[in-house]
Amino acid sequence: MFEREVYLKRREGLREILEGGIALFLGNDESPMNYPANPYRFRQDSNFLYFFGLDEPGLAAVMDLEEEGMDVIFGNDPDVEDVIWMGPREPLQARAERVGVSRTMPYQKLEDYLKGELSRGRTVHFLPPYRGEHLLKLARFLGIRPEAVKHWVSSELIKAVVELRSFKGPEEIQQMDMAATMTAEMHLRAMKNARPGMYERELAGEIEGLAISLGGYISFPVILTVHGEILHNHYHGNMLREGQLLLVDAGAESPLHYAGDMTRTFPVSARFTTKQREIYEVVLAAQKKALENIEPGVYYRDVHLLAAKTMAEGLKALGLMKGDVEEAVAAGAHALFFPHGLGHMIGLDVHDMEGLGEDYVGYDETVKRSDQFGLAYLRLAKKLQEGFTLTVEPGIYFIPALIEKWRSEGKHREFINYDKLEEYLDFGGIRIEDSVVVTEDGCRILGKPVPKEPEEVEALRG
Ligand code: GLY
Ligand code: MN
Repeated sequence: MFEREVYLKRREGLREILEGGIALFLGNDESPMNYPANPYRFRQDSNFLYFFGLDEPGLAAVMDLEEEGMDVIFGNDPDVEDVIWMGPREPLQARAERVGVSRTMPYQKLEDYLKGELSRGRTVHFLPPYRGEHLLKLARFLGIRPEAVKHWVSSELIKAVVELRSFKGPEEIQQMDMAATMTAEMHLRAMKNARPGMYERELAGEIEGLAISLGGYISFPVILTVHGEILHNHYHGNMLREGQLLLVDAGAESPLHYAGDMTRTFPVSARFTTKQREIYEVVLAAQKKALENIEPGVYYRDVHLLAAKTMAEGLKALGLMKGDVEEAVAAGAHALFFPHGLGHMIGLDVHDMEGLGEDYVGYDETVKRSDQFGLAYLRLAKKLQEGFTLTVEPGIYFIPALIEKWRSEGKHREFINYDKLEEYLDFGGIRIEDSVVVTEDGCRILGKPVPKEPEEVEALRG
């Protein structure tokens, strides 16, 4: 974990923003895979990690927002059974002091504590639960039905947490650079080792193992596929064949659980075909355009649209789109090829804070989510500020079912050359993604660079 001052400062920040009441943070519990004693790998809740740092199950914490220093961690001391099965652990008090908390109480007291505060008319702020057991606990603590819990979620606490977690401190940037460098190693490994005749799973297993061997874990399930047009494809059963493209979207989590997220697309053969290279260069140009335009004060929605325009220009030059590029992008015609958003915030979660509600994280009163196909999926639209960390991930995909649908509807016929598109139905998809930190006057790509110029990629493949 970080130094205790980091957690003290974060909680102080929350106290400065929130007026009063109690803030409750439930740490995660072990989550059973197929029977109770066989759990998934433990992952602490990111908000609990952010404010209370302790990376273990069976904890909760409350902050009394009206009383300085009145933070309590609820948990239990290890008993002899814990020691037999899990080894020695420090008493709860010692663990709490590492994160600057001097009061602890047994976990079983949490319910009475909260009920006592509620009966005194105090507000208990909590964040939206995303695990069933937390939903049930909250319903019990509040004395309401699980279906009603969502109405009690504190939008004030959500906004305060987003305000704090959006700005990454130097200690966080260091972890994010580490995560990005571990992520880079995963991509370099895949790029160097992919060979025709291998199965996707061989490479997926290798890079997942690499993340673990480097002292971290994966930050989301590996996407490694010859069908890059399937955006979140987790199937790894295809054999790699000459002439195909392989899309790898994978990231490592640093030891303190900060996420990496990167995508590279490269040929299974030693070289791109002409057709592949042409599309690749359009995606790369869009990514570079986006990177050049990221700076504090710029709306990410505008950067997204700039990338979309660059893609539409490139696709027009290849005869796949036609007409006025500005009009095509305004109408959303490019979304046939680029149906997702340019990127998302990244931090303790790969889609940072997404569990708090995408609109709280990526939008604000100055920018509302569009309902246009494509733009509607943009997770981050608001004005960028120094210290934000985010992904930049344009892509071009040829999705036969979507092309077929639009063609049969005659959709955006004035901007799309459907006849030319027939030649691309088995093309697949290309995405290029890096994670960046917004600096005073631009942005910096996090971690060790991974080749993305076509010549560099081919040199590695060769
Ligand atoms: N890396 C997967 C995603 O951003 O959705
Ligand atoms: Mn991403």
